[in-house]
Amino acid sequence: MSGDYGSIGRTLVSEEELQARITEIAAEVSADYEGRELLVIGVLKGAIFFIADLVRRISVPCELDFMAVSSYGSATHSSGVVRILKDLDIPIAGRHVLLVEDVIDSGLTLSYLLKNLASRKPASLEICSLLTKPGHKRLKMPTRYIGFDLPDVFVIGYGLDHAERYRELPYIAELEL
Ligand code: PRP
Repeated sequence: MSGDYGSIGRTLVSEEELQARITEIAAEVSADYEGRELLVIGVLKGAIFFIADLVRRISVPCELDFMAVSSYGSATHSSGVVRILKDLDIPIAGRHVLLVEDVIDSGLTLSYLLKNLASRKPASLEICSLLTKPGHKRLKMPTRYIGFDLPDVFVIGYGLDHAERYRELPYIAELEL
């Protein structure tokens, strides 16, 4: 494929590697939250495949909710100004919240979300991101669960898009423009 959508470049994380790591993260989460109930919050749209695979392997009772946000900025860089397109359906006060992202790039989206969610007084709030890029170190709060640290390249697949394409790939690849 070519043109505005670019094309699929080298594979950075294979389907097998992704699935094996997700099983490991689910085991860690299950152990850490033993005896508690979890509220898993996914950030649309990129996190949908990760969250679906993750929660089906977590052994503690889970509820799911979603937020949709849009960050103003260019196609490849977020600006840190975030608009909530869809808020949570349920209150999170007193709940153990695990915020699930597909990727932390500049960390700006998550910084905003963390502040916003913390103000709603959850019992606990932790971050789980399948992928991180070097910018995530800017986050004031540590990311408790990380799948893979990636270099600063544009990645597609397993929920991540370029101009809404490529989300359905079962692996993570570099976008070739
Ligand atoms: C991606 C990703 C994060 C954000 C990370 O979402 O899912 O929410 O960008 O970038 P940052 O750390 O630089 O703020 P995107 O805006 O591409 O929306 P999508 O998930 O619907 O594709």
